[in-house]
Amino acid sequence: MLVSVLSLKGSPGATTFAVALAARWPAPARALLVEADPAGGDLVLRFSLRSLPGLVSLAAAARRGGETDLVWRHTQQLPGGLPVIAAPPDAEQARAALSTLAPDPTGAPAVLRAAADTPGTVVVVDCGRADPGSPALPIVRSSDAVVLMSRAHADDLAHLPRRLPAVGRWSPNPVLLLVGEGYTEAEVARELGVPPLGRVPHDPNGAAVLCGRPNTPRRRRNSPSRSALGRCAHTVATHLALRQRPAVPGPRPAGPGALWAPVATPPTLPGVPPAAVSPNGIRPAPQARTAPTEERGGRAS
Ligand SMILES: Nc1ncnc2c1ncn2[C@@H]1O[C@H](COP(=O)(O)OP(=O)(O)OP(=O)(O)O)[C@@H](O)[C@H]1O
Ligand SMILES: [Mg+2]
Repeated sequence: MLVSVLSLKGSPGATTFAVALAARWPAPARALLVEADPAGGDLVLRFSLRSLPGLVSLAAAARRGGETDLVWRHTQQLPGGLPVIAAPPDAEQARAALSTLAPDPTGAPAVLRAAADTPGTVVVVDCGRADPGSPALPIVRSSDAVVLMSRAHADDLAHLPRRLPAVGRWSPNPVLLLVGEGYTEAEVARELGVPPLGRVPHDPNGAAVLCGRPNTPRRRRNSPSRSALGRCAHTVATHLALRQRPAVPGPRPAGPGALWAPVATPPTLPGVPPAAVSPNGIRPAPQARTAPTEERGGRAS
């Protein structure tokens, strides 16, 4: 399974959440994190990784033609053992690596797809900010699931109506995650015609560990397995993994405290026409709506 994580504006925590998603992907799947941010990677600096192997060496190897397990030879490990393919911190090098991979039929999407198509494997890709000209777009387009992250304040949400149609063309069923405080899911669904999958909690301590800042033994609650952020990532990962499978009866990630109401059919939300809603996904309403504004009664804190 190939999962892209991206943002449209600002820095909502896409890299942090991509790390959490891969680290907390439900067993027994083997998870791999790929940093494919054209603006340059953060993982090398955050986790004191070596510059190679990584995205640059993968691009060079893929150009020579590669086998199914090629990606695994270009990984390093984060603390805890998560294998990662890190992007170079330099944006020019990162874009060059992605561009080298993308147009080649044996390039990034094909190489990553091959790994992601291996049974029991999930490849989580941090695609950074998704602009129409991004060299990471071929990866987004070939993904099985696209996770779009946005902060929930008016100035961030105001950009969504203009940008969501493009996301809908890249992926048939992307999911939207709100980050931190701000407008509620219901308000966003009502105003934008987009039902968010859920909300990523504001969790500076949990985020710090996922960004490579050390966790002390006395602060175990900040580890990905216990932090609010890590638990949220696990819930989202479980949802995506279940959504990918053919519908079979079985447990769903719902219950008290679940991030969203489980849906087998498109939910009906007050004020949202049914056609505007896909199962926990994004389907912009036919008529562009304005983003909620503070003046119209939305919550911003
Ligand atoms: N859920 C969260 N709660 C609190 N802080 C967070 C959260 N997620 C990320 N952060 C913090 O926000 C900062 C930016 O996070 P991150 O690098 O993941 O964002 P990004 O969207 O990938 O940014 P960029 O666009 O620069 O790639 C980091 O310092 C991180 O610790
Ligand atoms: Mg990032």
